[in-house]
Amino acid sequence: MKTIFITGASRGIGLELTKQLLTEGHKVIASCRNPEDADALLACRENSDHLEIMGLRVDEENSVRSCFSTLEQAGRGIDLLFNNAGIIDWDDLHAVSTESLEKVYRINLVGALLVLRGAISCLRKSSDPLVVNLSSRLGSIALRGNTQLGGAIAYQCSKAALNMLTRQSAIDLSSFGIRVVSVSPGWVRTDMGGETAKYEVDESVRLIRAALGNLQPTATGVFIGEDGATIPW
Ligand SMILES: NC(=O)c1ccc[n+]([C@@H]2O[C@H](COP(=O)([O-])OP(=O)(O)OC[C@H]3O[C@@H](n4cnc5c(N)ncnc54)[C@H](OP(=O)(O)O)[C@@H]3O)[C@@H](O)[C@H]2O)c1
Repeated sequence: MKTIFITGASRGIGLELTKQLLTEGHKVIASCRNPEDADALLACRENSDHLEIMGLRVDEENSVRSCFSTLEQAGRGIDLLFNNAGIIDWDDLHAVSTESLEKVYRINLVGALLVLRGAISCLRKSSDPLVVNLSSRLGSIALRGNTQLGGAIAYQCSKAALNMLTRQSAIDLSSFGIRVVSVSPGWVRTDMGGETAKYEVDESVRLIRAALGNLQPTATGVFIGEDGATIPW
């Protein structure tokens, strides 16, 4: 049984990760901005003693600090951290506002960094700690071109930057034995992905879990898709 921490667990991929990992018998610490309004997540607790729900806004440093210092003081370890919380703005280069650019960066990049940094002490208590940053093929610089949907400039830049966080933190945390990977879940039918997306959320999450399960035990600083294949940076 692993202890797994998930950000943005109120809906979408984070909620489905919570459900599937509980079913597998893991302990899940599911965090979200407003636990009292997260009805679907609260409902999971009725069927499981292994679910803890914590309030966490990834873009607020005090919120991140308070969440992880609570866990640290309780001597808790984390085996697997899903940096899942994220937002999108579909505006292109011409239309995007400065406020939106900053907000998307604040949540998708700064938030992921704050959470990763806040979780280090808890991760160090695990014998095989892994951090999974939920990235996107839209963040791949190498895949830019005619074959890929594009134009969501704030989102794309934030996910490219998140990939750099994966690469650099994999190096910076290797001496602690903490591995860090980027995973793209594919195009998924959530509030973010919309109704015409390729995958149902349960299918995407099953694929992500299988892809993570098939990773080499020493893999770190890599970028993979839901199919387990390497995605070029
Ligand atoms: N869906 C796709 O096709 C797709 C494709 C590639 C990558 N991804 C990535 O996968 C991750 C999950 O996406 P999704 O499709 O599940 O999105 P979603 O359905 O829109 O859910 C996003 C989650 O992030 C949370 N969140 C937003 N801002 C937050 C903040 N400041 N602090 C804490 N939580 C916050 C939301 O909480 P609230 O309920 O409180 O708003 C919600 O739980 C994202 O990082 C996304 O970029 C998704």
